[in-house]
Parts: sequence; C-alpha cells; structure tokens
Amino acid sequence: MEQELNRLQQEAEEDLGQINEIAQLEAFRVKYLGRKGGALTSIMRQLGTVDPHDRPRLGQLANDVKQEVESWFEEKKEQLTATQIRHTDSTTDFSLPGRYLPYGKLHPVTQVMEEICSIFEGLGFAVAEGPDVETDYYNFEALNIPKHHPARDMHDTFYVTDSILLRTHTSPMQARIMEQQDPPLRYIAPGKVYRCDSDITHTPMFHQVEGFLVDRDVSFADLKGVLTSFTHKMFERELALRFRPSFFPFTEPSAEVDIACVICNGSGCRVCKRTGWLEILGSGLIDPEVLKMVGYDPDIYSGFAFGLGVERIAMLKYGIDDIRLYYENDLRFLSQF
Ligand code: PHE
Repeated sequence: MEQELNRLQQEAEEDLGQINEIAQLEAFRVKYLGRKGGALTSIMRQLGTVDPHDRPRLGQLANDVKQEVESWFEEKKEQLTATQIRHTDSTTDFSLPGRYLPYGKLHPVTQVMEEICSIFEGLGFAVAEGPDVETDYYNFEALNIPKHHPARDMHDTFYVTDSILLRTHTSPMQARIMEQQDPPLRYIAPGKVYRCDSDITHTPMFHQVEGFLVDRDVSFADLKGVLTSFTHKMFERELALRFRPSFFPFTEPSAEVDIACVICNGSGCRVCKRTGWLEILGSGLIDPEVLKMVGYDPDIYSGFAFGLGVERIAMLKYGIDDIRLYYENDLRFLSQF
C-alpha cells in the first residue's frame, strides 16, 4: 500500500503538470479525489483490511498524500484562473458595474405641447396640423387682415415671395379647416410659427396651439369654460383667470387671457411685474367676416378661437425666465425635464 500511495502521488504530480486549462481540472479531481471511485479515496477505504500493526502509519501516510494532492490541485486552479483573466483582457475588471448609456427624451417644449394637446383632446377637440410655409391668403386675408392693414405690422413676417411666407401664427388653420368641413367643429392645431423678433422673451421661431370651436349658439361663456378647465389642468391648481378686452381682426369681441401669477399667486412679484397677472393667450368669438369667407352663415353659426404660446406656458410652468434656454441645446438644461 505504501508503494501504491507513493506511485499515486507521483502520477498525480505528473498529470497535473500536463494540465494547462481550467476545463481539464475537473477530470483530474474526479480521478484522484472523487468521493466515489477516486484513486486516493478508494485506497483509504482499504485501510480497514491492512495489518492493525501497520494501520496508524499507513493511515497517516495516506492522509498526507491526499492533502498534498489537494493543495497542488487548489494551487493549479488559482494559477489557471489568474492566467485566464489576464489572457482575456488585462484592462478589464469584471467586478465593475456596467456603464449606462444616456438615453434621449423629448424636448421640454414638445413635452408641454403634447400635454396641452392631450388636455384639449380630453375636452373633445381633434388635432390637425398645417404647413409652416403658408400663403398670404390664409395667414392674413382669410383672417380679415387685408393688404396694408395696420395689424400686419405686428406680425414681423418672414416673406418667401410676395404671396408666400412663414406663418406668423397658427390661426390660418381656422380658415383651412373651416373651408373643408361643415360645423360642428372642435379643433386644435399645434405647430411652429415664425416672427422676425429676438430677445429674452422672443425667438424667431416658437410654438403655438390654436384652438377653435364652431357650432350653433356658441357664446363667450363656452370659451371661458373651456379655457378655465384647461388652465386648471395645465397648472394643476385653480388659478384665477382674467379676460382683458383686446383686438384681433379675426375675432369680435376679443380678449387676452391672464392667469393669476403662478409665482406669487396674485400678490405681485418680479415675474408678473407687480401686476399679479400673467398673459397666456389671445382669444375671442370668431368674426362673422371670417365665417362668411369660408362660406358659413353667421346668422346660423358662431364660434370661438384662441391661440396660446407654448414656450410661454412652459416657462411659467417650470419657472424659466429666458426663452432662449430652450434653443441653446445645453444638455445640462434639457436633461432636467
Ligand atoms: N393668432 C393670434 C396671435 O398669434 C392669437 C389668437 C388666436 C387670437 C385666436 C384670437 C384667436 O397673436
């Protein structure tokens, strides 16, 4: 038995010397150290049959050999694991957490525009989009703003040709849709508009959402109800609304709508210039002249319209004081939304 043990030890050492891949280690373990049928395990089982006189010495020897082989095995395993990592990529630390890829989001103006649309959709309005490059006819004439009308001055229009321009507001969509369909109508038209103007509250391109409703017996009270419901949803609280008489050639009567200042709640601060109010949109009852131009009978139908500035609403909602921040594309700003 003593010879057998010495032979096994030598054989194990040689076997292990041949091994250079982790995958081969398991076969080695089974062959020598396996619980069932491993060479060293089996030899130790035979200890019971040897002369009791030799048993302690042989038992001790068998244990020593087994421990020796076990420690060679562990050593080899460690060595091979280390080389494997080194060979894969010496600069890779598999214990580090993964790297996150930054993911994109919608621009804050787009987010607010979608929110505005979904509130009006909830009130039964359908969404329609029209062209940014518009004709003089839809942008002005059809809205009761003939050539040389002083209201044209306010629009700071970018002209493409004498009769083609970049739309200065989304109101042309009123005429385009009314021309195509008969009442009752309930539409909103979101989109880009352009004016030759630039400072901390104006950019040459900005966004509006037009809204209008035409039916029998539409009154100013309907306009007030829709806009009140909208602002309460948009600003998530019951802000007061103020309708201030105003003028637009395509609405009569017209009103600009203010909300109680979202910052000071009406008591007066820097944002509302101490007035307690913030202007958010223009509105009114659609002028009978506009209805006539699309072929509606103003004695039967009436309607209201409004146009709101998306950047302005987004600024108030998020407390932003410079409109240009939206268009500088600084990720530190954009990723906050
Ligand atoms: N189009 C007007 C503007 O851009 C706003 C408006 C829309 C006013 C609809 C009344 C009705 O200033």
